[in-house]
Amino acid sequence: MFSNLKKQPTDKIMAMMGKFRADPRVGKIDLGVGVYKNAEGVTPVMRAVKAAEHKLWEEQQSKAYVGLVGDPAYADAMIGLVLDGAVPRENIGAAATPGGTGAVRQAFEMIKMATPEARVFVSNPTWPNHISILNYLGIEVVPYRYFDSETRGVDFAGMMEDLDGLKAGDVVLLHGCCHNPTGANLNLAEWQQVIDVLNTKSAIPMIDIAYQGFGDGLAEDAAATRLVASSVPECLIAASCSKNFGIYRERTGLLMAVSQDAGAKALTQENLAFLNRQNYSFPPDHGARLVTMILNDDKLRADWQNELEAVRLEMLGLREQLADELQRLSGSDRFGFLAQHRGMFSLLGTTPDMVEVLRANNAIYMVPDSRMNIAGLDTATVPILAKAIIDAGI
Ligand code: LMR
Repeated sequence: MFSNLKKQPTDKIMAMMGKFRADPRVGKIDLGVGVYKNAEGVTPVMRAVKAAEHKLWEEQQSKAYVGLVGDPAYADAMIGLVLDGAVPRENIGAAATPGGTGAVRQAFEMIKMATPEARVFVSNPTWPNHISILNYLGIEVVPYRYFDSETRGVDFAGMMEDLDGLKAGDVVLLHGCCHNPTGANLNLAEWQQVIDVLNTKSAIPMIDIAYQGFGDGLAEDAAATRLVASSVPECLIAASCSKNFGIYRERTGLLMAVSQDAGAKALTQENLAFLNRQNYSFPPDHGARLVTMILNDDKLRADWQNELEAVRLEMLGLREQLADELQRLSGSDRFGFLAQHRGMFSLLGTTPDMVEVLRANNAIYMVPDSRMNIAGLDTATVPILAKAIIDAGI
């Protein structure tokens, strides 16, 4: 049987992680996988998470199963964080999932179950695993233009032209904030135009929100998701706690099925539970419980928000430092987009060959499409990266 297996394509982000680890050079710089690192190069456990874990260790009396969709208190807390009352709670079916990827996977499965002929429109480019999972499930993928390689902003006219090809029942995958991999985002007026086209075409939005709090702030980063959820008849939202709570390995996500019709909830909730049961039965609880404890405790929540805000401001500072340094070295404003982008990532907009030059000459690692994890930098490595970019002739 095993001999029938085929070699699988390597995920380019995972491949980069392996190459970086194997590189013996001192001073190597990892701008690959999307993990926050502080100035010491450490991905710390956040203070509020530590405090919640301590409390949980003292208070938790049982590790028995919770429920197929997880603890309803977790769904309530996360729905509050993401949607903040934009849609009545009774209109939302929700299930805890293993990480944001689990939520994305379950959302795609639900789409296929409900509308087998639906196509999923994805931004070009998007997070590679979106396409990989869609292909694996046999769902047709339709790319829409997104990144303008001249301005390094959003090619909004191109995007709208491509969305004009939507048919009723198609799904449009949108990044709620902090677009991965580009860092370029729609403004709220553009979101409104996207909503209008979705409603005109009777297409369904699916929002992947994995970086709430990393862009312009917790509420600001959720504004587009809230606007969509309150303006369309139905949508799916896949949320991740990996980055904003720093609990990457705890696999903590939530899938929401939002409807304007409260009557739909019983059915969406039942189907979410069914999908969890088929794929892994009970979702992981540890991370979800920590998130619930933090969001429901004023002191822990305030401390978490403060630490998250510091991380956000640190990333913004690094963006500005890098843009300034490149401005100084190149004598031009052509890297100004780095300060405009938001979130962890920026697409530098150069070729895989140039990315390889940076790796070979400077031990700087980024994804071959030239996605850089800004949080992999610190104030000391920014000038090294800037010089390497200019030396490579980018
Ligand atoms: C990333 O894009 O680097 C992260 O979302 C990690 C991953 O799973 O790819």
